[in-house]
Parts: sequence; C-alpha cells; structure tokens
Amino acid sequence: MTRDHERHQTGFRRNIRLRDGSLLLIRSFSLNDLFSIHRMYSSLSAESKSSFHPIFLQPKLRLSWLLDETLQVLSCVSFVRNLLMKIFPRAVYLSLVVLNSQQKTVAFTYYKLRKRLAGNGFEAEGGTVVKDDYQGRGLGLELLRHRADFAYANGIRRLRSWVHADNIKMVHLSQKLNYQKVGLVQRRNPQTGKLYSAWEMILQLDCPENTAVKKEATIGE
Ligand SMILES: CC(C)(COP(=O)(O)OP(=O)(O)OC[C@H]1O[C@@H](n2cnc3c(N)ncnc32)[C@H](O)[C@@H]1OP(=O)(O)O)[C@@H](O)C(=O)NCCC(=O)NCCS
Repeated sequence: MTRDHERHQTGFRRNIRLRDGSLLLIRSFSLNDLFSIHRMYSSLSAESKSSFHPIFLQPKLRLSWLLDETLQVLSCVSFVRNLLMKIFPRAVYLSLVVLNSQQKTVAFTYYKLRKRLAGNGFEAEGGTVVKDDYQGRGLGLELLRHRADFAYANGIRRLRSWVHADNIKMVHLSQKLNYQKVGLVQRRNPQTGKLYSAWEMILQLDCPENTAVKKEATIGE
C-alpha cells in the first residue's frame, strides 16, 4: 500500500457492496483525486452532465472555475478547512469519492457549506454523480446514505439541494431519504446559461431517522 493510500485512511472510509456483489470503497476526497475527478467528469454522457454541472468541473468558466477549484484544494488541507469553517464557511467543500477495485473513480459527491445555522451547525448544498456504467446498480442510494453520515459528522445539520425537475431518479432517491420538497424554482445551468426547473429540497439531519448509518461513522483527520 502506498503512502497516499495511508493518508486517505485518516478520513471517512467505508466499503460499499452493490447488489451485483461488486465491492467499492468510499472515502474522503484528497488532492490526489482532483485529476481523476476531472477525467471522470469528461467521460460522462451528455445526459449525466446535464443534471450535474458544478462550477469547479467547468474549466471553460475560467475565473469562477479557478476560484472554486482553489476552494476545493484549500478544503483538502485540514487546518485551512477548520479555519475557514470558523471564519468563512461558504468557502468550504467537503467531498467524497468512490473507487472500484481497480482504484478507478466511479462516483463523486460533495457539499459546499452555505451558512452557519442559528442554533448549531451548518446548512450545506451538495451534488452527486455516478459514472454512467455504474448507474442503476444501487450505488446512488448507498452514496447518498453515507454522505448524509459524512455531513452530520462534519457539523452539517441541514442539506439543501436543487434537483432538475425531470431527474426522476434523483427526485425518487431524495424522497426515499426523507428530503422534503420546498417548491419548484428556476435555476440557471452555469455552462449553457439556460434556465431549468428544479425541485428545491431540504433534509434536516438533526432528526435521528434521517442519517441512516450514523452510528457507524468513522470520521477523522
Ligand atoms: C442520480 C444518480 C446519482 C443516481 O445514482 P444511481 O446509482 O443510478 O441510483 P440507484 O441505482 O441507487 O437508484 C436509482 C433509483 O431510481 C429508480 N429509477 C430508475 N429509473 C426510474 C424511472 N424512470 N422512474 C422512477 N424511478 C426510477 C430505481 O428504481 C432506483 O430506485 P430504488 O432504489 O427505489 O429501486 C445517477 O443516476 C447520476 O449520477 N445521474 C447523473 C447526474 C445526476 O443526476 N446527479 C444528481 C444531481 S442533483
């Protein structure tokens, strides 16, 4: 095992077994993953990209991309991230990657903190993508469950997401995990500039039933 792998073990790290028996690893995102995330994103189908378009994966947007990419990098450094969480939470990304047995990235999920909540913890927004050839195999559901635990362990108490209204799978999975629909809103795709309808959805993580496997969480760093 390389030194890089040992470093990854200090963060969130769990195994996922899919219905077809494949064993995958879900772990905290590290600097070494930046390139593979971009490579995975560029290999996605146009359909998948049309539902998942975070700015840090859109190099064509230059300045916004550079800023968000820098925040992703800074958020990987634990003391910088902890400092930013105190003084400027909106700059913090918390991300996870899923690797197959060949160490290839097959899924990615992230949170970006939005604000500190009045009572305790943070509100965050997030996004998730599963590589096309891994979709429909149960990975999306597992990933969303584990990332809720990851969020809770990092002080996030409310998740807000905007799901394309025609993204039946994601709307279905979100509702399965107790996300509540707030309403239909208009959003703009940063890449194409086009408006689309999205369901704004919220998940309160301070209800015990909304973090499926919280007790098993192993968070460190
Ligand atoms: C959305 C996404 C993350 C889901 O991941 P996945 O691995 O395909 O999801 P799963 O296999 O765990 O689950 C898919 C669910 O959708 C259901 N589903 C699939 N097609 C459906 C359809 N046409 N109508 C209703 N439900 C459908 C499946 O039955 C399954 O639900 P179940 O667990 O209750 O049986 C993945 O498809 C993806 O990355 N899509 C592109 C990017 C994207 O949309 N990201 C979300 C942005 S908010």
